[in-house]
Amino acid sequence: MRLDVQPMISAETIAAHVALLASRICEDYAGKCITLLIVLKGGAWFGADLARALPPDTRVEFIRAKSYVADSSSGEVRFLVEPEATLRGRDVLIVEDILDTGNTLAAILNRVAAFAPASLRVCALLDKPARRRVPVQADYVGFEIPDAFVVGYGLDYDEAYRTLPAIYRLVPE
Ligand code: IMP
Repeated sequence: MRLDVQPMISAETIAAHVALLASRICEDYAGKCITLLIVLKGGAWFGADLARALPPDTRVEFIRAKSYVADSSSGEVRFLVEPEATLRGRDVLIVEDILDTGNTLAAILNRVAAFAPASLRVCALLDKPARRRVPVQADYVGFEIPDAFVVGYGLDYDEAYRTLPAIYRLVPE
């Protein structure tokens, strides 16, 4: 597999959409203190940019989930990093790089709901609705994309390509 020649989403377009998402989030959370729960590793790039466009009292926590797919129909999710601060009574906004089958997000939502936050919403940079197997959705979505494997801006292929500033499709050699 190799990177497509042109990016699917340029760094400039990503920045514009992050700013739009941040202004919607600021309006919706007016008067509240947001706790961003950034999903590692892929959500770190988007989360850092989004955080810098939110009010200065915004808090940041991290969670890391890993899927172990035993077969094509089931995926067990384990948590390798958990939030340090209590999320009880907080307005928690989960920040994900991409929503694919929905398996990881469903497990994270379950886990976080157990901490009894005051509110719980999801912001995903990318959404591939055609791939969904678990009925979860994000409250804020940067871009809906077709069923393609994409890398860059935090998204990896076997840990490579995360550092690219734009999002590229991976295509056959
Ligand atoms: P889900 O549990 O199937 O929704 O998958 C979510 C996770 O799979 C994401 O957080 C990514 O780590 C990974 N993933 C899904 N699609 C892509 C992709 O197109 N590129 C890179 N990683 C992906």
